Amino acid sequence: MSGIRVVGLGAALPEKIVTNAAFAARLDTTDAWIAERTGILERRMGGTTSSLATQAGAAALANSGIDPADIDLLVLATSSPDQLMPATACTVQQALGISGGAFDVNAACTGFVYAMVSAAGIMAIGARRAMVIGSDVLSTMTDPNDRNTAVLFGDGAGAVILETVDDGPGNLLAWDLAADGSTRHLLYIDHGGYLQMDGKEVFRRAVRVFVDSAQKTLRDAGLTPDDVALLVPHQANSRIIGAACDRLGISLERTAVNLDRVGNTSAGSIPLALADAVAEGRLHDGDVVLMVGFGAGMTWASVALKWGP
Ligand code: UT7
Repeated sequence: MSGIRVVGLGAALPEKIVTNAAFAARLDTTDAWIAERTGILERRMGGTTSSLATQAGAAALANSGIDPADIDLLVLATSSPDQLMPATACTVQQALGISGGAFDVNAACTGFVYAMVSAAGIMAIGARRAMVIGSDVLSTMTDPNDRNTAVLFGDGAGAVILETVDDGPGNLLAWDLAADGSTRHLLYIDHGGYLQMDGKEVFRRAVRVFVDSAQKTLRDAGLTPDDVALLVPHQANSRIIGAACDRLGISLERTAVNLDRVGNTSAGSIPLALADAVAEGRLHDGDVVLMVGFGAGMTWASVALKWGP
């Protein structure tokens, strides 16, 4: 079996910025409420899941210098696919000229971590290079007049390219995937409907599963929270991130947070926050990165990676 390492990273955001003030102008809400209760100041809206995914994937290809024809697997995490069928991954595969298999993964906001672990599993049994994308346009699936949900979600995508490492265990140190289908009523979108969420209950459970999953992955990797150079959490609410960091013993200085600028971009959230942290020069070769996601299902997951070659 082979290990993996990350050799490319890309991000894509729509151009249109929607500020809290824009919501306050037409809904019973205020900039102060949204900022204090969620940490979000603005979000981006526009595009489609495939167009944002293609843009993020192209950026990751350029970043890696790898020819798309040399990629033999595309895994796209999304819960807002362009169509119910075929998989949005097929649209992206054609647009980028990637060869090999292409499929979607739906684990809601946890999707990117699920997709990365799925790709690593397929690479362990033979695929050489994979593109893993998280892309969502949940702004199109929230009721624009529902202040409980409309202010939370933005659109965006992030992508990584993974390469096989033959001469060692690779850089994926440990992982955890989990789900509890008995809580699927807490956050869902019916066919043709808008996103429905019991925000308080999702919040309460999110902090707990975040901490449990992060601790399990660190334990499996033989690491402690002190070994983590950068925590990349799902960007749903700054109070969830703060509470989880407190309980884990990882300071906010070691945590990637960009939800103030992009809101909750669902499957796009973790790779977008990772891309921002890398652009800010916050990751160095050999650093341990811990990514933790949670979302509808409920699902939750984490993965610990060593950054660099
Ligand atoms: O990525 C998927 C996972 N999703 C999440 O992680 C979301 C987790 N949940 C949350 O982030 C928070 O629960 C919310 C941000 C959704 C809500 O914050 P909260 O502090 O839990 O507020 P709440 O639901 O307890 O609501 C408090 C009040 C309610 O009014 P009443 O019933 O007390 O009169 C809401 O109607 O705040 C009201 N409210 C708002 N007020 C102004 C809800 N949304 C808004 C709003 N502006 N946008």
